[in-house]
Amino acid sequence: MIAIESIQNIRTVVQLSRQNLFVDRYTALVGNTKKATLKHMHVHGVLHGVEMSLMFFVMPVVVFCAAKLVSNHQLDIDTLLMAAAYVSFLSRFLSAVNLTLPKLGQSYAVAHHFTRLMYRKPLISMNDTTENQQHPQFDPVEFNSVCFAYPTRPKIMVLNKLNLTLRTGQSIAIVGTSGCGKSTVLSLIERFYDVTDGQLQIGGKDIRDVNLRHFRSLIGYIGQEPVLFNMSIRDNIGYGCDLNSITMSDIIDAAIIANIHSFVQTLPQGYDTLVGLHGSQISGGERQRLAIARAIVCKPQLLLMDEPTSALDDENEQIIQDALQHAAENRTSITVAHRKYATFYTSE
Ligand SMILES: Nc1ncnc2c1ncn2[C@@H]1O[C@H](COP(=O)(O)OP(=O)(O)OP(=O)(O)O)[C@@H](O)[C@H]1O
Ligand SMILES: [Mg+2]
Repeated sequence: MIAIESIQNIRTVVQLSRQNLFVDRYTALVGNTKKATLKHMHVHGVLHGVEMSLMFFVMPVVVFCAAKLVSNHQLDIDTLLMAAAYVSFLSRFLSAVNLTLPKLGQSYAVAHHFTRLMYRKPLISMNDTTENQQHPQFDPVEFNSVCFAYPTRPKIMVLNKLNLTLRTGQSIAIVGTSGCGKSTVLSLIERFYDVTDGQLQIGGKDIRDVNLRHFRSLIGYIGQEPVLFNMSIRDNIGYGCDLNSITMSDIIDAAIIANIHSFVQTLPQGYDTLVGLHGSQISGGERQRLAIARAIVCKPQLLLMDEPTSALDDENEQIIQDALQHAAENRTSITVAHRKYATFYTSE
């Protein structure tokens, strides 16, 4: 985990000159495992050595005794050969069992963890078949006295009796201090969590009775930090949708609305350009505009925007705001915004 995180955030690590710190932490962690493994290996080595050498000490004694028995006519040679073959097979079998048994135990433990993970039932399932797949009623999205605490901090109420109604075509902005629960409201609409108390209704139905897969497919989400994959620009926009159901012209239309099409055209490989790990080969503003294109490529009915311009300079902010305004036209939308932009995003 330390290795993955430090490689993924290599720029921050290098900028802070903390390479040695992470190497030391990694070495310390690996060192503990190495120590435990070495101890185990030493014991295993000694036991294996004793087991193998025992044969060489016992064999001469057995051969000597057998020879004595044969010369005294107490044992015939056929029985001796049969016994020798039997002992040889038996010792090979026992040795194989001895080598396999610890591995069987380890395999059982791994299989146990794996099957427990495979058959774990998530609290919020994507595979429910509730509600008509085709026409969920969006209007309205309604929070009725909603209380919410995150499962990891059940005693801290993030939302306390929140009432909010959003009707089709409306655009509203949520403004508030950092940590007051703005992003949490969006997470509840996406049903990443269930409310602790009160009711969240979609089209008059409790959100728990709405088909989740279909409901989420009608939502476009643009987050504080754009998340891109190391794929081409076309794929980064396209994976917002079922790739079989969209065409190149859908992708270009979304890019035009998001104000990124003219930039893509200037690139030698156009829409086939790879964006690098986490989009590191394009600028922050370009990343955010790609994220906007991805959010709208499927023509979502509801657009959720979580401070999409918070990390940008003034010029980029203006470009993104134009893109967002264009994207939110004729759509229902909720924007988490700074106080100064609240009126910019809202329709009423
Ligand atoms: N996954 C989580 N588990 C536990 N607590 C969380 C989690 N996510 C957020 N919180 C806490 O819930 C509170 C509300 O967080 P939220 O992200 O909704 O704030 P916000 O209003 O969007 O803030 P900001 O403007 O800084 O983005 C914060 O106190 C935060 O620490
Ligand atoms: Mg937030």
